[in-house]
This record gives sequence, structure tokens and C-alpha cells, in this order.
Amino acid sequence: MPKFRTLDDVDVRGKRVLLRADLNVPMKNGIVTDATRIVRLAPTIEALLGRGAKVIVMSHFGRPEGKRDPAFPLRPLVAPLSRAIGGRDVVFAEDCIGDEAKRVVSTLRPGQVALLENLRFHKEEEANSPDFARALAELGEVYVDDAFSAAHRAHASIDALARLLPNAAGKLMQAELTALTAALETPRRPVLALIGGAKVSTKLDLLRFLIGKVDILVVAGAMANTFLFAEGREIGGSLCERDLVDSAHETLLLAHQRKCRVVLPEDVVIAATLEPGVATRTVGIAEVPSDMMILDVGPVTVTRIAALLEEARTLVWNGPLGAFETPPFDRGTVAVAKKIGELTRAGKLLSVAGGGDTVAALDAAGVTDELSYVSTAGGAFLEWLEGRELPGVMALASNET
Ligand code: 3PG
Ligand code: MG
Repeated sequence: MPKFRTLDDVDVRGKRVLLRADLNVPMKNGIVTDATRIVRLAPTIEALLGRGAKVIVMSHFGRPEGKRDPAFPLRPLVAPLSRAIGGRDVVFAEDCIGDEAKRVVSTLRPGQVALLENLRFHKEEEANSPDFARALAELGEVYVDDAFSAAHRAHASIDALARLLPNAAGKLMQAELTALTAALETPRRPVLALIGGAKVSTKLDLLRFLIGKVDILVVAGAMANTFLFAEGREIGGSLCERDLVDSAHETLLLAHQRKCRVVLPEDVVIAATLEPGVATRTVGIAEVPSDMMILDVGPVTVTRIAALLEEARTLVWNGPLGAFETPPFDRGTVAVAKKIGELTRAGKLLSVAGGGDTVAALDAAGVTDELSYVSTAGGAFLEWLEGRELPGVMALASNET
């Protein structure tokens, strides 16, 4: 893991701290429907306030494409943010740079919080513009990045700005990086990676990287169908990327060379259509009729994965094992999630999970709090799983100021 400063390494007393957060939370009719990212940001704000800082929170929200789009305001985040930090006032600035931002920031006293309007209302944000970064830097004296989930974006508030001020990682960024490092860079072995989801095409780099890192790779979800098809199995009308047969073969060969054990489903739950309550059957992997679809892993596979998890000391998980949004095809995912929760609680497994669908599946299984670490990140978690350098992490590591 690259070296970076933490809140313990910067002096913030009486200073204006620019805190890059990821308040890109799901929202319906102006109401936040999942406050996880806000709740997980709160300890950083509290720590800064406790050290006598003036905290200026900035974030993107949605994809307004560089325009002041009324569909993506940050003002509705004022109340939830205030609630998350014990009801403290949060003052709002209608713009993230310029006179309005300066005016609001100048009213802050130590222990007070401001929230700036959506960074992406300025196209310069996504362009990583040095001028825009300088305009942001004028507002503060120290930069703290707590937006791991946006660390895969080389945007001005994440990259250029981090290089203009003394910088540090916030507590959430630090926790994410520590958990991810423990899982893949210095793990207790055996390490098992459980990779599900629909498409192999979006996860080829990730599979290749993991094969070099982990001892056991379990592939499930619709993406397993492509591997099964490549092995010559009948998969009926199942989702499958038939053009990726060669890539699937190469991936399996690479795993063989790197002595990484690849585990595919042995039995599956099938149905004629993907609909709630449709008639289902469980069959061995060699018995899928040509007019049926594979929609979940079967109980034999679940038992096999559970046994492998018993052996493993570290788990990295991304992607559901079946079409979990449509019951009863959530059963495999829920059963495995519960097993992971149980082993983690017993202290036998370090478990790290991330990615949008995965978190939804963990929530549905009711085990989110039982895992060692659940990342708040979607895209950034996946890029990290691909072994890519994340611009947000690299900018903190540069420590040029
Ligand atoms: C996310 O929600 O994945 C991050 O906030 C990044 O958002 P983006 O994909 O719009 O850059
Ligand atoms: Mg995204």
C-alpha cells in the first residue's frame, strides 16, 4: 500500500480543512434512501471538529455533466449530514468556488461545518483542471480525502487539489485502504475470492489479477455460465457471453499455471424464465435442458463453497451468486453470505466485500454488519481488485506539499 498521511499527521487546529467526501448517495424525491456513505463519513468530521478545525465538506453528486443541473443539488444532503454528526449545524454554500463559497467559508469558526454545492456543476472538476483546483484550494489550508469510493476518478478535487495543500487520508479512506491491504497484500492464507455477477466481460482484468493473488477462485453468478459453456456444457438459454470463450479458456489456463484453484458451480437452480415464484428445478451441471436457464447455484455448490470457506482464512467477495433480486434465486447468495457472516463472527475468517450489487445482496441477507469490512465503493473497489493504481490514493501518496 502506498504511504499516506492520516489525521494524526496534520495540524488542523483553527484551520480550514477541505474535506473531499463522497456524498453520491441514492436519493428519491429529495430523500436519501441509503445513508451508509454519510454515516461512514461522520467520524472523520467529528475527529476534525474535535481537533478544532473548521470543516468544509465538498462532494460530487450524480453526473450533471458540468452544468448547474437542478436534478443534482447537494442542499438536500444538509439535513442528513447534520443528523450524522449529532445535529450540529451545517451551512450551505450555493457554489463550490468563487465569492459565494468564500463568503460562507469566512463565517466558519473552529468546530463548525460547511457543505459546498456539487463539484460537478463545473466541467473543470472532471477535467482535473489546475485552475479549478486552485480555486478550491483558496478556500482551505489543509486537504483531507475521505472519498475512497471516488478514488478511481482523476478529478480536480481528488487529484490536482491534493497536490496543492498539505494532505491526509480521512478515517474512512484509511479504513478502506487498511482492509483492502489486509485482504490482498498481506493476507492470511488460504485466500478465497468469490466472484459473481452477470458479465465476464467487465471482470476479465479482475479475474486475471486475482488469479495471481489468491489460492482459490470461486466463479458463480451468470458469469460462471460463460466458463461452463467454454468447457462444453449445455447451458440452455442462460445468460452467456459466447464471444468470450477464448478469454475464458485463457483465464482457466492462467489459473492452472499460477496454481490457483478455480471452482465452478456443480449443480444449479433452473427455470424457464426469470420471474418471481416461477417453477424451478435443481439439477447437476451436466443435466441442464436446452430450453431452461441457470438462475442460481444449487445446494451441492453452496455446501462446497461453505467447505472451502471453512478452509480459507481470508475472503474477497464481489458479485452475487445468482439472480438474487428475484426470489427464490437469492437462496445461494443468502446461504453463502450467512456462512461468511458466521465464520467471520467466530474469528475464523477475515472477510472483505464490495461493489454495489454485493452490498445490496449482503443487506438482503442481513449480514452486512457481520463481515470484517464492507466497502462503500463500487467502481473504485472493482478497480482496486483489478490491481489498478487509484488516482485518489496516488495523489495522497505523492505528498508533494
Ligand atoms: C460512485 O458512486 O461510484 C462514486 O461516487 C463515483 O461516481 P461516478 O461513477 O459518477 O464517478
Ligand atoms: Mg459509479
